[in-house]
Amino acid sequence: MVHGSLTRRQFIRVGAGAMAASAAPKVTVLEPIPLSSARVVSPSHMVRFASLGTRLRGCELLQPSLRVPGTECLGVCPLYASRHEAAREAVKKDVSAMRDYRKILDRKDVDAVIVATTDHQHRKVVVDACAAGKDVYCEKPMSHTVEDGFAMVDAAQKANRMIQIGSQGISSILYAKAKEIFASGRLGDVFMIEAYSDRNTASGAWVYPIPPDANEQTIDWNAFLDGAPKRPFDPVRLFRWRCFADYGEGLAGDLFVHLISGIHFITGTNTIAQRAQSTGGLFRWKDGRDFPDVIETFYDYPNFRVVLRCNLNNEGGGLLGFYGTKGTMVIKDSTLTVKPQDTRPQPESYSIYGWPAKLREEYLKKWHEENPLPAPLDFRVDEEVETFATPPGYDPVPDHQANFFNAVRSRKPVVENEVFGNNAAVGCHLANYAYFSRSVAVWDQGARKITRS
Ligand SMILES: NC(=O)c1ccc[n+]([C@@H]2O[C@H](COP(=O)([O-])OP(=O)(O)OC[C@H]3O[C@@H](n4cnc5c(N)ncnc54)[C@H](O)[C@@H]3O)[C@@H](O)[C@H]2O)c1
Repeated sequence: MVHGSLTRRQFIRVGAGAMAASAAPKVTVLEPIPLSSARVVSPSHMVRFASLGTRLRGCELLQPSLRVPGTECLGVCPLYASRHEAAREAVKKDVSAMRDYRKILDRKDVDAVIVATTDHQHRKVVVDACAAGKDVYCEKPMSHTVEDGFAMVDAAQKANRMIQIGSQGISSILYAKAKEIFASGRLGDVFMIEAYSDRNTASGAWVYPIPPDANEQTIDWNAFLDGAPKRPFDPVRLFRWRCFADYGEGLAGDLFVHLISGIHFITGTNTIAQRAQSTGGLFRWKDGRDFPDVIETFYDYPNFRVVLRCNLNNEGGGLLGFYGTKGTMVIKDSTLTVKPQDTRPQPESYSIYGWPAKLREEYLKKWHEENPLPAPLDFRVDEEVETFATPPGYDPVPDHQANFFNAVRSRKPVVENEVFGNNAAVGCHLANYAYFSRSVAVWDQGARKITRS
């Protein structure tokens, strides 16, 4: 076991420690990229857009969209009267508003639309927008059902439209760095990936307040329901729609989709997981919702396994971890940490305790003869942790909007097109299928459907 007075690993650690003592921990603050190469865009190159389904996210996206040079908002489409006012405040001008989104699609001066309706209406609005010749930014998750997603892919491709799906994390400068590190091979072979997104507030559990002016006069309830079962007016279902399977997909559609999109982007995966198994339960937020407040899903991909978790009962935040044979890469909040592993050969230690001393010594002697130590200081410190961080206040949303609006102008590919968005969304449907059917959800690519085993 002992070679001189130090084991091989201790020798290397001392070296690394000596290095570390003289050098500050390596933290690199990443540079944001400009939203456009052009400072001034001529009127003929402006991208004129409208926002359909303008409420929470629809309003939230207006300013980041307008920060991209060469964009102009021509209209908004809220089903709820007071959101016209909110949209006007966000746009900072008296933008026209209409309840029927098809009137906006009829306008020849609108190049592109942002679709921020409830998930169950994504398909209808996106298919109509493509048929009307508009490019589309559609919020995540792309689809409410597997069939919806493929109908949207077909519509976009038939009409040759630009589609960007709204998992903004993948336009983050941190994810770009993670993708670069993954592709470099620094992590070795990555067979295991885990990610979670945990929250512990009523808002995090979608128990949003009902505005006092919400009623059947201020809201077009029937337009909201379109495509879902008819029901009497119920503001809880409207404002907390993520809780209900008629309109949303629970934690999978709300949060897994960001994790899956991030994993697909960083690993360069452009397929749907082959199988999924889920567990979880509704333990705390028992307010009549359809979905669990804890879900954990295990996915099989051809080259690795993924485990995802969402828990609405603990403030765990979010994490994406890639566990490779040569190192570990973790994204947590606004930092990315890469921790290499010392993979140089080591003499066996644990299992030889059961050997007689003579055999043990012979084994160690032979091992050290075959594996001479490097000369002092003549080795690479490969245990140094490297950290990358985004600058304070960095937000990937404008980057994601810029990626879309610049692509509308240049016709170059977006970062999250309809096929990418559909692959991630089907991952969410696999998770829910497995959870509700209490079986293994199997993806049948040929039939474009989920089956059970
Ligand atoms: N990328 C993100 O981080 C992020 C964050 C929040 C929401 N989202 C997504 O944005 C979308 C909207 O979410 P939200 O929180 O803004 O919900 P919301 O309820 O605040 O807004 C959606 C609105 O769409 C309206 N709507 C539905 N059908 C419509 C139609 N046919 N025409 C016009 N309006 C219609 C509804 O009335 C509803 O008010 C969802 O797909 C959600 O998953 C994404």
